[in-house]
Amino acid sequence: MSTSAGYQSPVVTVASALPKRRVDSSVLIVPVVSGGDGEEGSEARAAVVAGPHLDADAVAEIEAALQALGAKGGSEQLTRVVVPALPVTSVLAVGLGKSRDDWSAETIRRAAGAAARSLSGVEHVITTLSDLDLEATIEGLVLGAYRFSEFRSEKTAPKDAGVRKITVLAPDTKAATKDAAAHAEAVAAAVATARDFVNTPPSHLFPVEFAKRAKALGEAAGLQVEVLDEKALARDGYGGIVGVGKGSSRPPRLVRLAHLGGGRKGKKVALVGKGITFDTGGISIKPAANMHHMTSDMGGAAAVIATVLLAARRRLPIDVVAYVPMAENMPSATAQRPGDVLTQYGGITVEVLNTDAEGRLILADAIARACEDAPDYLIETSTLTGAQTVALGARTPGVMGSDDFRDRVAGISQAVGENGWAMPLPEELKDDLKSTVADLANVSGSRFAGMLVAGTYLREFVADGVEWAHIDVAAPAYNSGGPWGYTPKGGTGVPTRTMFAVLEDIAANG
Ligand code: BES
Ligand code: MN
Ligand code: ZN
Repeated sequence: MSTSAGYQSPVVTVASALPKRRVDSSVLIVPVVSGGDGEEGSEARAAVVAGPHLDADAVAEIEAALQALGAKGGSEQLTRVVVPALPVTSVLAVGLGKSRDDWSAETIRRAAGAAARSLSGVEHVITTLSDLDLEATIEGLVLGAYRFSEFRSEKTAPKDAGVRKITVLAPDTKAATKDAAAHAEAVAAAVATARDFVNTPPSHLFPVEFAKRAKALGEAAGLQVEVLDEKALARDGYGGIVGVGKGSSRPPRLVRLAHLGGGRKGKKVALVGKGITFDTGGISIKPAANMHHMTSDMGGAAAVIATVLLAARRRLPIDVVAYVPMAENMPSATAQRPGDVLTQYGGITVEVLNTDAEGRLILADAIARACEDAPDYLIETSTLTGAQTVALGARTPGVMGSDDFRDRVAGISQAVGENGWAMPLPEELKDDLKSTVADLANVSGSRFAGMLVAGTYLREFVADGVEWAHIDVAAPAYNSGGPWGYTPKGGTGVPTRTMFAVLEDIAANG
């Protein structure tokens, strides 16, 4: 078992032509469509989407080999063939579906991901898919090649190390092309960082360890790092983090990671991510079935840490300050009880009617603290409610917050392929959070609109004038179904790409 080195992404190189000499242990990934030359029946045959890098002979040979196997070029259909004339061990055709002129970036990303995911025992991937969209190809390949084998012994460890090298063919190798490639590579590496955190089991990733790893990565990236321990949290009035953390033998933490790239005039953005390293529900304990999925209850924290690290790596000209509350929600003799009252950071009192609604308790403290820095924008993300999954399913994050910023975040999330969807925070839900003894209750008395009630709770802690968005990724952060596109089982890294694209948009447009 290795230490916490994490997943090592393959090295990406941009080239303007196929290699001259044969490359060992290599695959050439080429896009194909179901479309033909007009001959009868040919529309159901895989046709190579030929860019400038394959000559007519190569295309004819690949198509002949595909035809012999009956390949049809349907969406994400994979067909591996040997083409001796090409300088690679084999060719992997990946279907893009029906013939069209412009494919969305997400179509390319998923095709690249499905292709990379299918490869084992291959060291070097070369591809012409990049002629259609260079960045989407790199993101898809790197994300599809992701694997997490840190906790496998030799008995079940994968026999090969996975794809080590990716060569994307491009029209040129000018600085702008190389920077686009570096951008995509950095984004995909950040998603891998978030996935590694989510995939690390709660036995090994508990608040103190999580904070330690976030600190080490932050310092290596040149961030300012502060960690508040349980004593400092109690001293400074972080009643939500202390209350949730006190049922566990493993004390809570609050990590602050600052990338100060904005100078005096740049915009300031706060990020907040839920870092429950395991959620049993506490005294309001969860049923046993699928409780192990609660290893993903720090998915928001993982994405926030990965995003601020990426902001530093890409030198964004804005301030990005991340607040990451970390706690383990356990039942014990020292745990908080249903009916307890705690005081959130900033003074609002809360009656804890359900200890399983713990995310909002630690987030409220962190949001209130983040607002003291007077950010222009605040993005908070969390695996907050089962109701997210009931409303939107496993792949669609719910985005709530101030109307304009919420819509901007949801629009950008759609554009990057993470598919966040705007949801309202109806005024009347506030009444459901009334308590008979405190300022607020942490749950409503009804089963209606659970995702929106949680968002309504968080809204109480956002300072006036701060544009904010809350992204509920309860299911999207963790894939408990089969792998698809560039998404493996387990941690997905969602919504890292959404948040980073929002930061880039703010850096460019204010
Ligand atoms: N971490 C859970 C939400 C969750 C559920 C994430 C399923 C991923 C998959 C959260 O802390 C929780 O338990 N929420 C409760 C809130 C309820 C008590 C108001 C829920 O959704 O049931
Ligand atoms: Mn819970
Ligand atoms: Zn939780």
